[in-house]
Amino acid sequence: MQPKSQVSVTSKDIFRVYSREVFRYPRLFFLVFLGGLGIQVAELIYPLYLRRLFDLLATGKPGTDAINGLILIVGMIAIAKIGGWIARRVQVYSIMNLESRGMANLYSSAFDYLIGHSYHFFISRFSGALVRRVSKFASSFETMVDGVMLQFVPTTIFAIGAVTVLFLRNHTLGIALGAWIIAFVVFQALVARLRHPLRVARARADSKMVGSLSDAIGNQNTITLFSGTKHEHGILQNVVEFWRKATMRSWNADELIWSVQGALMVGINIGLLYGAVIYWNRGLLSIGDFALIQTYLLGLFSQLININREIRRCYDASADAVEMIEILKTPHEIKDQPNARPLTITNCEITFKNIYFSFQDNKPILANFNLVVKGGEKLALVGPSGAGKTTITKLLLRLYDVSKGTIEIDGQDVARTPQDDLRGKISFVPQEPILFHRTLMENIRYSRRDAKDKEVIEAAKKAHCHEFISGLPETYNTRVGERGVKLSGGERQRVAIARAILKDAPILVLDEATSSLDSESESLIQDALQTLMKGKTVIVIAHRLSTIMKMDRIVVVAKGKIVAQGTHDELLKKGGLYQKLWSIQAGGFRDDETMLEKNLNQPEILFETPEEK
Ligand SMILES: Nc1ncnc2c1ncn2[C@@H]1O[C@H](COP(=O)(O)OP(=O)(O)OP(=O)(O)O)[C@@H](O)[C@H]1O
Ligand SMILES: [Mg+2]
Repeated sequence: MQPKSQVSVTSKDIFRVYSREVFRYPRLFFLVFLGGLGIQVAELIYPLYLRRLFDLLATGKPGTDAINGLILIVGMIAIAKIGGWIARRVQVYSIMNLESRGMANLYSSAFDYLIGHSYHFFISRFSGALVRRVSKFASSFETMVDGVMLQFVPTTIFAIGAVTVLFLRNHTLGIALGAWIIAFVVFQALVARLRHPLRVARARADSKMVGSLSDAIGNQNTITLFSGTKHEHGILQNVVEFWRKATMRSWNADELIWSVQGALMVGINIGLLYGAVIYWNRGLLSIGDFALIQTYLLGLFSQLININREIRRCYDASADAVEMIEILKTPHEIKDQPNARPLTITNCEITFKNIYFSFQDNKPILANFNLVVKGGEKLALVGPSGAGKTTITKLLLRLYDVSKGTIEIDGQDVARTPQDDLRGKISFVPQEPILFHRTLMENIRYSRRDAKDKEVIEAAKKAHCHEFISGLPETYNTRVGERGVKLSGGERQRVAIARAILKDAPILVLDEATSSLDSESESLIQDALQTLMKGKTVIVIAHRLSTIMKMDRIVVVAKGKIVAQGTHDELLKKGGLYQKLWSIQAGGFRDDETMLEKNLNQPEILFETPEEK
């Protein structure tokens, strides 16, 4: 098992991922920029005419020629404002298109990459938290593009324009405003950097809370059954408190920054007004200039306040994006090798050669495990719980990679064949089948997605699903609930068997495939399975030894090692673990008091030999 690789995500990574989406649509990007430019130019022109308006109002008198000049100015202001309105429509329409397309791409690409991660990756994480990462990844794109294209770029244009105009009117005031803006931006950038770790901590606390919530909600039944409501409340309370503290730290930092910024704004406002009064006194500025300065300042302040909010949102968004980009940067644990060759099945012989495998370094599950399953052989794996039986089959399916050794099918290393090809050759019925919250038809068809309805129903009949499915109000169109919870354990197993029957792959692996079935259904399905097994290489894992008595060979595994093998009779004769397991199971049956009572009239049942059962 490979160690979990820790990847680090930088701002550059976020920029790279998101800008790639933006530049995928250069025309839309250009229109958004053009719209933003138009809006700001209109905003800059308006105070210029306002200044003229005020100056004319201050000097002209009502009822004179001044009115024509004033109307002309109002007309120019109208043109600027209407131009600004049109530019905003262009900007908004283009950005909506750009963002919706970008988000759609991000959803798809995040899903495509995420789902390629290994089985181990998923069982080590909360699915709720993963779902949230994908959706935050897409929504962060919207936030960041909004921030850059609707705030940062336009505000920069406006600030440069305002400083230039003011500089042309009065060098000192222009330079003062320019210097102030630079100081303000530098301050923003510095504190934003300092604040970032707090935001990341908050995003992690968020994910942790979602993970805990989804784990608890997913286990609602267990909580009820074990009267765990109060206990869960306590656990959640801890997580919530952790989240609250992280949030409060991040908000406190924000508030501190806000107060400094507010003070900076008051300072420049008073400073510029004071300067303007001095220059007016010297006859260097007119009344209109006051209107100009004040309008620019008001415009600038409102944009800067927005920018402050946007920076905060963008940092939040980037902290959210980090969580998904981490996953995107984490290499897939199980990969097709570049020189992978399609698997050719000839004899269908499976060889486990000197296999070493462990989940944790100090606790080997398999050490030097060797086993050959001959082509067409029906092999059973038995042994105590935790012996490593399921792990052996998961290694064959390459859900995990072995640490050492090779697993070969007809002499071809499974690690050197494409995964889809390998798994296409194996029908696997897992110990605990999980189903999609889709219809039964779709669920069964999943193993051969081009199968016709007729074929699906035929497989369902063989797996004895048809009986219970026919009894459902919507028969094959019934949805089975999340993970298949609306079906009983035995029904889920039968659906999984139907999948395997439909798939009809040359290798069949059954992991406790009939463990949840009653004896009658089991014996019916055993018949179907016997037919299915014909001509295939089969590995069956079973605790109920009566189900594997007829297998060609039984391999007893304990603590990751083969401790005995042979046919049922041979193993019984040998004694040892198999004989012990068998006598416990057979004995359990004999000791069962209810059975004893029921069968008092049929003593032969109580004393039958195990082979006859
Ligand atoms: N993802 C995992 N991470 C860490 N340990 C694991 C993981 N999966 C299984 N194990 C451990 O590996 C050992 C073998 O597990 P495995 O599922 O192969 O047992 P098994 O023989 O199939 O048992 P059972 O008969 O109960 O199904 C167990 O001790 C189990 O706790
Ligand atoms: Mg198992």
